[in-house]
Amino acid sequence: MRVGFVQFDCRFGEIENNAYRAAHFISHQRADLWVLPELFNTGYQFVSKREVAALAEPVPNGPTTQRLIRMAKENKTHLVAGLAERSGKSFYNSSVLVGPKGLIGLYRKIHLFYEETRWFTPGNLRFQVHPVGKARVGMMVCFDWFFPEAARSLALLGADLIAHPSNLVLPYCPDAMPTRCLENRLFAVTANRVGSESRGTETLTYIGMSEVVDPKGKILYRASDKNEEAHVVEIDPKLARNKSLNRYNDLIKDRRNRFYVKS
Ligand code: ACM
Repeated sequence: MRVGFVQFDCRFGEIENNAYRAAHFISHQRADLWVLPELFNTGYQFVSKREVAALAEPVPNGPTTQRLIRMAKENKTHLVAGLAERSGKSFYNSSVLVGPKGLIGLYRKIHLFYEETRWFTPGNLRFQVHPVGKARVGMMVCFDWFFPEAARSLALLGADLIAHPSNLVLPYCPDAMPTRCLENRLFAVTANRVGSESRGTETLTYIGMSEVVDPKGKILYRASDKNEEAHVVEIDPKLARNKSLNRYNDLIKDRRNRFYVKS
């Protein structure tokens, strides 16, 4: 299975142009699954709820999801992409999984980061896993990585791969994802953006370093911290089905649930 990410500098409010650029990146290499950054169509640094209201779109009938479905059809691929979703009176920092036939999955970011808490409603959907070819794919968005329960939930649902659209500004995630992958024995594709935004009173600089990590915590490929690029890696998703560490230990079966604190 060929899985890839697009790391690029999404321009705030330029929905058409951002989608056009993402389409351009994925048209040059074949992949079975592409992951695009968080809020790839709108940009990240909203400064008012009114801006979110003006740019958020319904899923699946909004123009960005429809465009992603066309991209999947034209390139015979699947895509996971972050976007601002409008649902009734609420706005979610969401991620969609689409294929040539349409929308397959929707995830609404559960752990909102920093000022996102001012504009978005925390996700209200459970973690889910969906088939993409022979792989089972789960989604989480950026800051969710900081909560090991997110990746663990996806692992317990049987995910072989976590698709992880991101707009990282703190430095920790690229070095932390190998641990998430190691402890859950699964693959992850983190698609981060580069560039910076200075729309409010502060500048946010996005750290790039998008990466593909394997179930042993090995970084199969990591992008630079500044440059735009699309990169594809060949993986065998079946490797994520083997949770055993040695003859005596299985990282999922050995869990001692009754000793863990729930809250
Ligand atoms: C983040 O969750 N965008 C840091």
